[in-house]
Amino acid sequence: MKRVFSGIQPTGIPHLGNYLGAIRNWVALQADHECIFCLVDLHAITVWQNPADLREQTRQQTAVLLASGIDPVGQILFNQSAVSAHARLAWIFNCVARLGWLNRMTQFKDKAGKDRENHSAGLYVYPNLMAADIMAYKATRVPVGDDQRQHIELANDIAQKFNHDYGVEFFQTIEAFVPPEAARVMSLRDGTKKMSKSDASAQSRIDMTDDADTIALKVRRAKTDPEPLPCAAEGLEGRPEARNLVGLYAVLSGMNVDQVLTQHGGEGFGPFKQALADVLISRIEPIANETRRLLADTAHLDTVLREGAARAGAIAEPIVSEVEKIVGFLK
Ligand code: AMP
Ligand code: TRP
Repeated sequence: MKRVFSGIQPTGIPHLGNYLGAIRNWVALQADHECIFCLVDLHAITVWQNPADLREQTRQQTAVLLASGIDPVGQILFNQSAVSAHARLAWIFNCVARLGWLNRMTQFKDKAGKDRENHSAGLYVYPNLMAADIMAYKATRVPVGDDQRQHIELANDIAQKFNHDYGVEFFQTIEAFVPPEAARVMSLRDGTKKMSKSDASAQSRIDMTDDADTIALKVRRAKTDPEPLPCAAEGLEGRPEARNLVGLYAVLSGMNVDQVLTQHGGEGFGPFKQALADVLISRIEPIANETRRLLADTAHLDTVLREGAARAGAIAEPIVSEVEKIVGFLK
């Protein structure tokens, strides 16, 4: 059975992009993989976080994952900082990865923008920590959204260079598992930008804790163009907002884009948005309700994470100890 590892940052509330691009696939992979899912709090602090918020959001994220169907008993769910192997292996990878490789990372360029000098060193070496997350478990399948592909390639470069520099065959090649649909859910306010926790406008995203009225309102207010829906996929060319909404409807209703347009082509956005709000609410509302129920018992959430961390540590510890021996640390 292949081992899966994936992570999500416990910053902000998980949104529809996280759910469709990541969480939903995590849930599906559980059926035939050994899965390790991680709330990456070490990654979160690469940008300053209010400590109380970080704690609260770690629990909130845990609750959303459980409410979405992650099984913390059959699989492993934990927070990254609770297993020290991540930070230890990340340091070794900091010494393997080349500055030139990190300079090519588009996520850093996007996040740091023009103000590069003023960002943390942690944000810069973020991909090395991500590589360590995966390699500490020798996981080989990594479900992520499209935006993380480059980081997975970098992880493979690091693993290969490590093997080469130390003359070992220790790390295997890993594969990104990017589902074809909903790999990029776009903002409801701008169809050219991805839906993101860091967007200043709450109207740009649907949070997994939104209630039915909030979802309906956000969908009604979503940016569109004045044309009716086209009758075939080609007609979505140059219409990023229409493409996004049709894509969302398709994923949520289990149809392909052409089938959606056969049903709704020629319609104005009014009735289509109503139909979209309905499928969104029927998917999200039960998760939001279960999340609220779980959040009422923080002791239970903390126990889930603590037990997950103990099981994760038992896998990572011998692997990272072996790496430490390979590099020559006296142990
Ligand atoms: P993050 O919120 O950046 O920690 O992302 C957690 C997971 O959600 C990663 O696998 C991302 O690729 C995925 N993800 C984040 N935003 C989107 C989006 N707008 N569309 C699809 N996947 C996303
Ligand atoms: N960098 C990922 C993101 O922002 C989160 C992440 C951290 C991750 N470590 C990981 C994803 C390991 C997959 C595997 O989405």
